[in-house]
Amino acid sequence: MKFMTSPRSMLVTSALPYANGPIHLGHMLEHIQSDIFVRYHRAIGDQVYYVCADDCHGTPIMIKANNMGISPVELITQVGVEHKADFDGFMISYDNYYRTHSPENQQFSTEIYKKLRDAGYISTRTISQLYDPEKNMFLPDRFVKGTCPRCGAKDQYGDNCEVCSATYDPTELKDAYSTVSGAKPVLKESEHYFFDLPKFNDFLQDFVHNSGAISTAMANKLDEWFKQGLKEWDISRDAPYFGFEIPDTDNKFFYVWLDAPIGYMASFKNFCDRNGIDFDEFFKADSDKELYHFIGKDILYFHSLFWPATLKGAGLRLPNGVFVHGYVTVNGAKMSKSKGTFIQASTYLKHLPAECLRYYFASKLTSDAVDLDLSLDDFQAKINSDIVGKIVNLASRCAGFITKRFEGKLATEPYDSELMAKLGAISETVNQAYASRNYADAVRAIMGLADEANRYIDREAPWVIAKEEGQDDKLQRVCTDGLNAFKTIITYLSPVLPELYSKAQEFLNDELKFTTAATPLLDHTINKFKPMFTRIDPKSIEAMIEDSKQDLKAAQVSAKPAPVAAESAPAAAAAAATAAAAESQYEPLESEITIDDFAKIDLRVATIIKAEHVEGARKLLRLELDVGFEKRQVFAGIKAAYKDPEALVGRQVIVVANLKARQMKFGMSQGMIMAAGPGGEDVFLLSPDSGAKNGDRVH
Ligand code: MSP
Ligand code: ZN
Repeated sequence: MKFMTSPRSMLVTSALPYANGPIHLGHMLEHIQSDIFVRYHRAIGDQVYYVCADDCHGTPIMIKANNMGISPVELITQVGVEHKADFDGFMISYDNYYRTHSPENQQFSTEIYKKLRDAGYISTRTISQLYDPEKNMFLPDRFVKGTCPRCGAKDQYGDNCEVCSATYDPTELKDAYSTVSGAKPVLKESEHYFFDLPKFNDFLQDFVHNSGAISTAMANKLDEWFKQGLKEWDISRDAPYFGFEIPDTDNKFFYVWLDAPIGYMASFKNFCDRNGIDFDEFFKADSDKELYHFIGKDILYFHSLFWPATLKGAGLRLPNGVFVHGYVTVNGAKMSKSKGTFIQASTYLKHLPAECLRYYFASKLTSDAVDLDLSLDDFQAKINSDIVGKIVNLASRCAGFITKRFEGKLATEPYDSELMAKLGAISETVNQAYASRNYADAVRAIMGLADEANRYIDREAPWVIAKEEGQDDKLQRVCTDGLNAFKTIITYLSPVLPELYSKAQEFLNDELKFTTAATPLLDHTINKFKPMFTRIDPKSIEAMIEDSKQDLKAAQVSAKPAPVAAESAPAAAAAAATAAAAESQYEPLESEITIDDFAKIDLRVATIIKAEHVEGARKLLRLELDVGFEKRQVFAGIKAAYKDPEALVGRQVIVVANLKARQMKFGMSQGMIMAAGPGGEDVFLLSPDSGAKNGDRVH
């Protein structure tokens, strides 16, 4: 690939994580991979913008919010905060982390759709699909289960059997049921909107094979799809759906995958508007800016076919590269919740430094889409041996002498010009490796240099020279050489280890420019060496695995009881209302109810007579309530807001007293106490004025 502008100017993205679950180490591979690429290009002087967002729309998010008794907007807001904290924790240097449920994205999605429609790429057709007659909604395949038509295995998903691997149409399942309500699905017709992907066949073949954006291995994969023949793409979904309404339709919504990649543009637009950057320069058809997407192998099809066709059809620019990575496995197997190897980013960060994972992934990453195994023993051994044993130790072995014997001053000349030459010798390999995303090659070359430098220090043994008479000059120069090797190593690793790098900048008292990484510091005063990195204790890894098993248990118990009744129509209408409400600081209003609807909810005054932490529960407090006519136990997700449960004892609250009791992992929850606020630390319990008696009804 040739690039005309110098320095280069590029926009880099990572795939947008779904906003219905936590970030885990699989996601982190992608964000770490792209962050290293971004930091490298920034370090060599390119202009890089780096954006991401939460992918907020679709049925699973709507249903999850509904099950939690909150609105989709509330759910994506909570999850958005958690995702951001995780990425910050791993030092992912986004210029903007946004969400697809945004005004910019709605505008772009609408505009792009209209362009496609006006150019004749959209058609409509009536199709028939499984429908949940109780919830009044169409059911995506994953929300239908039943008996496998092939082998008879029970409780198989709508499109494939996990027992015999058969694939089938959900209508073929025997004894099918909706996982949303349990009801038997019926077939129902509805008009859908289709994008004419086959019309783009020639364009896509050319894009995939000749543009340079897709690797040969991935182009070969895509050939399988071309051979089968591209199919029209169903881009509409019926209400209730959490998404953007399709213009000029009657209650049809864009399928989440239509607006998700447009979310890349929307996140960048949001950033451009706040920073006076010309967005159109980047997305006009003939833009000379570069665009790169980092993705996992499971979403290749969307990024190499649908997305380029959408861009092309709308008269916009195309990506310069779609970079595909494989899947993370842990200890040689798929990440597993029950084994505790489905490790959330936040759980990892509680036990281990982010840079350990950044380094480990980098040391194994190539530009191929092969799976990457996080072998926990190897992980611990590699960090302790490489970062602590070879890199930091190199500095600590030399620094003391410079500080104590030479007032922190490095020699004016190196001692070993051969070693100094080796610093520069890896420069091309390292640059090539980062630029081509073969980070493993960069790490190998850098660690080769570290081995070389450590052998040199072993050989010259400054601790021996230090005891010899009249050898001050040699001592200073040998230690200077060691520290300069350290300088080169840590500077070349700066895209991988930003925090260690910044500690090294402080220690070596220099900005440590990447482009002059191999130029030795001479006649220069450094600061006192401070410990920079601690060895991984195997206990931390064990604790992380244990905690991950706990995360699973916690996920099985949602913090708030399920919504009052399984009434379908209001829930559906509410979801639609929420979708329409777009951006607002207020939670969207639920759909209208009658006084009779309200009368069904029996609210009572109660006094908290006991309040305590629940072992193993991250969000819950166990409360005992006196509801006048009886005592009750309630589990409430208020732990973050009420850190001292004792203080709640004696307080009057309002309880939803006729809520169906719910078996939770920790016991029965007999009702729900009322509180205001978005959740987390911002939860505010409701109390009556004084005078109310336990058991009084609230009207
Ligand atoms: N929301 C879509 C992406 C839309 S992009 C316009 C999505 N979200 S996801 O949360 O399921 O996955 C986000 C990214 O994480 C994808 O690139 C996916 O391949 C990657 N990974 C998810 N699990 C992974 C592993 N176990 N290992 C490596 N990457 C994995 O898909
Ligand atoms: Zn089967």
